[in-house]
Amino acid sequence: MVKTALTNHNNPDPLLFQESLLSWFDQYKRDLPWRRTRDPYAIFVSEMMLQQTQVKTVIPYYERFLQELPDWESLAKAKEEKVLKLWEGLGYYRRARNLRAAAQKIIRDYAGRLPDTMEGILEIPGVGPYSAGAVLSIAYQKPYPVVDGNVIRVFSRLFLIKGNLKTGEGHKKVWEWAEKLVSRQRPGDFNQAVMELGATLCLSENPQCLLCPLLNRCPAAQGGLQSVFPHALKPSATVEVPMSALFIERKGKVLVKKRSQNEKWLKGMWEFPSAGGKNFEEARRKLAGDLKVRARRKPMLEVRHQITRHKIRLRLFGASAPRRLPLSGGFQWVALSRLQKLPFASAQGKLREWLLLNRG
Ligand code: ADE
Ligand code: SF4
Repeated sequence: MVKTALTNHNNPDPLLFQESLLSWFDQYKRDLPWRRTRDPYAIFVSEMMLQQTQVKTVIPYYERFLQELPDWESLAKAKEEKVLKLWEGLGYYRRARNLRAAAQKIIRDYAGRLPDTMEGILEIPGVGPYSAGAVLSIAYQKPYPVVDGNVIRVFSRLFLIKGNLKTGEGHKKVWEWAEKLVSRQRPGDFNQAVMELGATLCLSENPQCLLCPLLNRCPAAQGGLQSVFPHALKPSATVEVPMSALFIERKGKVLVKKRSQNEKWLKGMWEFPSAGGKNFEEARRKLAGDLKVRARRKPMLEVRHQITRHKIRLRLFGASAPRRLPLSGGFQWVALSRLQKLPFASAQGKLREWLLLNRG
């Protein structure tokens, strides 16, 4: 009897599957900086960056980070502000703070060596099942699977997995396939090959199936069902978040604030004093009242930034401080020319860029 790809897609021979994927990877993989190293530190840093950010964005950040902080020791000793500055623009700054905490723990508790077991690595700050599998397989050749957005898309098409793939039954099925198929000989390359396929050929829109090494074993492609898998979730409704910030200048310096460790978001990042509210006006008044300054009613500019489902609109208002302000809680007067040395996130960073161009 002739076995066809269509009848056996739910029971692939793992070795044949791996062989198709790995030969493709060997021939076509992108030359990425973290693929030229075997250093667990470098691989760990790359995976933290790649968790929520695309490869092409990560590359320059990765290179600068490794140049400035080449090993666990240097990262453990670095000031938080320096690490945040190296992360500035990558987003999800918790990753940077966790990375530094990870280095400190590895120096303190593990004699400078990243644990090479699942149990051990899950003790490291910022490490969850995704990064644990990625790092153990890539740095230590341990046969753990990786499941990220790319893997979910590829496997849902290859195995016709339905339902919500971010949680629940569908997600569990993706994990099971990944566990079953991951190569025991080359787990790191296998995991990277699946992610690579998702990033370069098995795209959400217009997948390049004719170039795919798995075309003859892919029921989605054979049935023209690529657009049906993975099942699209309803996008969650976006919320508008109006915020106001103040530009307070005095004797060539501007008032900025470092966000405390008690803040919910962006701990340790710098900003122009800002507040949210029902609308811009309420936020502006609240801020001016708290700081006891006079803020103009007409904004200097508005910037936008979307983070997950939050559409932040941030308006900057000029304000004047009648006298020296009694400062506490992270406030500092900083020369405009020095603002670039501090880590600013997203919308606040856009305000700074504008000010440096227009006032600097
Ligand atoms: N995404 C997550 N890890 C990756 C890696 N090692 N190479 C390319 N993309 C990735
Ligand atoms: Fe994805 Fe197409 Fe390859 Fe199937 S054949 S895995 S849909 S790129």
